[in-house]
Amino acid sequence: MDNDNKKTKEAPKIIHENEGHILELIDEDVQSVNAFRSQFKEESSPVVRNNEVKIEKEKEEPTTKKETFNENGKRKIDLQHSKVLKDVDETQFRQYQKAKYRVRNFYKEQHEKQTMAYNLQARINFKTKKRASMPIWTALCKLSKLIDDSDPDTELSQIDHAIQTAEAIRADGKPRWMQLVGLIHDLGKILYFFDSEGQWDVVGDTFPVGCEFSKDIIFHEFFKNNPDFNHPIYSSKYGIYEPHCGLKALMLSWGHDEYMYYIAKGQSTFNDQALAMIRYHSFYPWHREDAYRHLMCDDDYRILEVVRDFNKYDLYSKSDLRYDLAEIKPYYLELIEEFFPNELVDF
Ligand SMILES: [Fe+2]
Ligand SMILES: [Fe+2]
Repeated sequence: MDNDNKKTKEAPKIIHENEGHILELIDEDVQSVNAFRSQFKEESSPVVRNNEVKIEKEKEEPTTKKETFNENGKRKIDLQHSKVLKDVDETQFRQYQKAKYRVRNFYKEQHEKQTMAYNLQARINFKTKKRASMPIWTALCKLSKLIDDSDPDTELSQIDHAIQTAEAIRADGKPRWMQLVGLIHDLGKILYFFDSEGQWDVVGDTFPVGCEFSKDIIFHEFFKNNPDFNHPIYSSKYGIYEPHCGLKALMLSWGHDEYMYYIAKGQSTFNDQALAMIRYHSFYPWHREDAYRHLMCDDDYRILEVVRDFNKYDLYSKSDLRYDLAEIKPYYLELIEEFFPNELVDF
């Protein structure tokens, strides 16, 4: 707690003490960091001084596909059109209130430690440190040693989850690029073996830092010990962001989604839908609970449909079924070669 408080106070120093040259190495993050800096300069901005002031009329949400809700007000997920998922009972997943101690304990730590200061430092570390180069399949095999503490729905290793997801997408006749996304969407969890401080900065649902933590984030109560929870800017509705700035401008909590997004963006030929599936698949408060609409731009509604389509396979393919790795390996090696031009990938 004391350490984290200290980190929060030090955050502006990272920018102001002639270390800006490091941040300029951080391509997409520069936009967010510049917004962060301008919040301190533009004290007269109504966004900074009073987040309750409506600086523009709230946008109407574009009409998306017709959605239905169950008796608890939760969105009903359409699994009927999937050959492999149509018999799945969706109510049996993400039951956090019944979750084991390890899951609850994980979220307590994650919510207390994912701060703006940590996020900036993790991005700098990612862009300035070298880790390892290896083929995608080798990296996947390393995941066989990892059981995700945040996941209440599986106790199998991560390579089993990767293959279950990919095989479900394949069985439904989805495009080859999406099958490969299924296989590698969680490959960023390899970060656990390199640079992480534990599982709290690798796995779990994601959320933006730098603005108010949505009540729709699972175990929201654990944020009260996060140093940003009472920060004058980071605890406000818009925080460091502009209304409808778009998801790309958000600094999502650091973990396997962001990490793998940057690796895939730089080293694969994936389209923007594939990259969005990787980047936002753990952003449940957004794609499942409808939070953060006030930060979305128009194009994000297209991305939302894409991510929701992927999420069905990520979540509901979880089962006790284990595949024979030797049998399916040749098919996926070919897929990897198709979208990752270099055999060795820099992680
Ligand atoms: Fe994930
Ligand atoms: Fe996953």
